[in-house]
Amino acid sequence: NKGNFEHYMQKEIHEQPESLTTTMRGRLLRGGSCKAKTVLLGGLKDHLKTIRRSRRIVFIGCGTSYNAALAARPILEELSGIPVTMEIASDLLDRQGPIYREDTAVFVSQSGETADTLSALDYALENGALCVGITNTVGSAIARKTHCGVHINAGAEIGVASTKAYTSQIVVMAMLALAIGGDTISNQARREAIIDGLFDLPNKVREVLKLDQVMKDLAKQLIAEQSLLVFGRRYNYATALEGALKVKEVALMHSEGILAGEMKHGPLALVDENLPIFVIATHDACFSKQQSVIQQLHARKGRLIVMCSKGEAASVCPEEWESCRVIEVPQLEDCLQPVVNIVPLQLLAYHLTVLRGFNVDQPRNLAKSVTTQ
Ligand code: UD1
Ligand code: F6R
Repeated sequence: NKGNFEHYMQKEIHEQPESLTTTMRGRLLRGGSCKAKTVLLGGLKDHLKTIRRSRRIVFIGCGTSYNAALAARPILEELSGIPVTMEIASDLLDRQGPIYREDTAVFVSQSGETADTLSALDYALENGALCVGITNTVGSAIARKTHCGVHINAGAEIGVASTKAYTSQIVVMAMLALAIGGDTISNQARREAIIDGLFDLPNKVREVLKLDQVMKDLAKQLIAEQSLLVFGRRYNYATALEGALKVKEVALMHSEGILAGEMKHGPLALVDENLPIFVIATHDACFSKQQSVIQQLHARKGRLIVMCSKGEAASVCPEEWESCRVIEVPQLEDCLQPVVNIVPLQLLAYHLTVLRGFNVDQPRNLAKSVTTQ
């Protein structure tokens, strides 16, 4: 049922304040009988000790689910102190990459049925790793075969392009980082700030959804483009990859997510006055580096669209830069910022698709669940 919406993708983008609330329900505790702010993931509580003892955490997934894990990687490294590595399921299988008994392998999959992810799970089980699932589908193959896990509880996702599952996956993995990290005096303030940020997240997403018309106007300007580059770094490297994936899969426009730190190692050669470039530059510890990326792109006459934190437009794009467009989004704790930042890009991909006359919910050649290898 699409309710008042024209497409499932549109409905699923707009219901993210509610899906995120459901994802967190019963899992965040603050005040009341329990003084400290904590996280309770029922499916993991008997396994946390084993996870904390593991030598490495390996995230394994495909497409959007891989991108969600990439967004959560920095906070998991920070709070757990355990090395976190990333594997695209098919690539792990192609390489038969090493997986050890001392590893915790985390399988991220909306459907819980993706063939590559499922084969990688069989492979990790054979190699003796502790296997953890993060899935949206109760009773799915990945939920059943993993030793333990967390359901993201985002509700059924019908649109082929994953939207609300992505944001719920990031939130579950941020909660996973809090649960594995455990309480220490030194990280208490950080933990509390993240938990407060999680409570506030649905409101922030509601606020950023008000950019719908702004993103539609931007889509009108980009309708005839051949290509769109998306630059991000740190927490928002994943936002760049995921934003580009949405644009290419539904709007059928070439788009590439680029790690901003790699700019000078090749992508800079593409910059001219014609190619639109979307730069994510919301405020965090890497902000000044991102400001310098923007300046260098501008110096080469890049056609810039910059996403920044509210109130910071002038520090990313001086008034005299007439061709630069700015999109301001609400700021929140750095590790949760990707949840807010992806929303304007989801809206852009959606509107571009409708304006270009393509099928939003059933993109050409794609299936919701990729059950063959
Ligand atoms: C569970 C109930 C929920 C109830 C809550 C009350 C289910 C599915 N969930 O939620 O309805 O409101 O208790 O305390 O009955 N698992 C995997 N692999 C995965 C995902 C999950 O093995 O990929 C396992 C978990 O380890 C756990 C079980 O499935 O044993 C349920 O997981 P989850 O729904 O996340 O647990 P709770 O949030 O505790
Ligand atoms: C993109 C998309 C795909 C899936 C990928 C993994 O919007 O939907 O990239 O994310 O096929 O699917 P799951 O998460 O079901 O394993």
